[in-house]
Amino acid sequence: MNNPREDTSALRVDGGRLWSRLEALGEIGAVAGPNGERGCARLALTDSDRDGRDLVVGWMHDLGLAVTIDAVGNVVATRQGSDATAAPVMIGSHIDTVRTGGRFDGNLGVLAGLEVIETLEQYGIATRHPVSVAFFTDEEGARFQPDMLGSLVYVGGMALEDALDVRATDDGARLGDELARIGYAGPTPCPAAAAPHAYVELHIEQGPVLEDEGVTVGAVTGVQGISWTELTIRGQSAHAGTTPMRLRHDAGYVAAAINAGIRAIAREMGGTQVATVGRCEFSPNLVNVIPATVLMTVDLRNTDEALLQKSESSFHTLCDRMASEEGVTIERRSLARFEPVEFDPAMIDLVETTARRLGHSTRRMPSGAGHDAQMLARVCPTSMIFVPSVDGLSHNIAEYTHPADITAGADVLLQVVLAKAEQH
Ligand code: GLV
Ligand code: MN
Ligand code: MN
Repeated sequence: MNNPREDTSALRVDGGRLWSRLEALGEIGAVAGPNGERGCARLALTDSDRDGRDLVVGWMHDLGLAVTIDAVGNVVATRQGSDATAAPVMIGSHIDTVRTGGRFDGNLGVLAGLEVIETLEQYGIATRHPVSVAFFTDEEGARFQPDMLGSLVYVGGMALEDALDVRATDDGARLGDELARIGYAGPTPCPAAAAPHAYVELHIEQGPVLEDEGVTVGAVTGVQGISWTELTIRGQSAHAGTTPMRLRHDAGYVAAAINAGIRAIAREMGGTQVATVGRCEFSPNLVNVIPATVLMTVDLRNTDEALLQKSESSFHTLCDRMASEEGVTIERRSLARFEPVEFDPAMIDLVETTARRLGHSTRRMPSGAGHDAQMLARVCPTSMIFVPSVDGLSHNIAEYTHPADITAGADVLLQVVLAKAEQH
């Protein structure tokens, strides 16, 4: 192999060092499963999110990086480039997790970014553009909606004041108050003053395709559109034994019919259409009482905007029909709505050719999950690198990606960043 100090195409990350950081961060908010699974619960802006942030920020300082914290809690750490006027090549992702999360979703992209920078430091490689690594606030949207909130504000897609006023799903806390409470309401203005030169995100696939096809690296072409709606169904609670079926206004029945109905819509549409009820709360939730109210969420996704709109309109028709049939009211509130995003063609090519050059099998693929990259794509050339998820599992404490695949993805990230950081 050529000397990486002279020929940076021979430069490789230290996979063991990256893995150790993944393990260390995974200990914060760790949750253990019955079969030895090791997952993570670090919901946005909780105490465990703060502890995870503190650990990563400490590593950023150890590497001598300039660290900024902005008004919505996004953290960006920058290694200087040789051209003082050049915008940074940004590597990013998130370190918040869902309540039943794994150790890789988001964390990998951030820690691989640190590993790229540590590799550059170790070999004394100067780059023309600065290289920065970012973690964005509340990517998951599990506690505060919408998802990708921090990166959305970063690119100017949501007003800072509106973001700070969002209330938590679990305890009603205000996002801005939680940010201040954990010490991450930073002084740097958000939205960011200037766009990065380029943005690259390494992420686990979170689905089964790469593993199924025996492919190591996914060159991500874009992210499908996302539509999240909260429904409040109000009927009439009454005695389960005395109320004849024809005289009921059963909010629970309507919730079940909507859940079954959106699945039928998705199956009928086929293609990439998916539909999920992820949250459903009955009230009063008692064995012998007809449910008075139900609060539930509907998640619809499609890679095609027109088809996503079609699924939304079928879903709305279904709600209206069920409301009138059962004599209940249904209130709909949009929690998140993002159109499908296509990444920069040259950046997708770069990921694909880099993976091939490093000897990895590769394929192009859209992302089914939402990512901070879809927000950054609004302001700069962006792409993502996927590595396989064992059994396709994610948002599950059993989420796992083999160390060799993690290293392969981080090497591709390093080489993509090097290529972008030398551009004029
Ligand atoms: C966010 O990560 C999502 O895809 O739900
Ligand atoms: Mn993620
Ligand atoms: Mn996630």
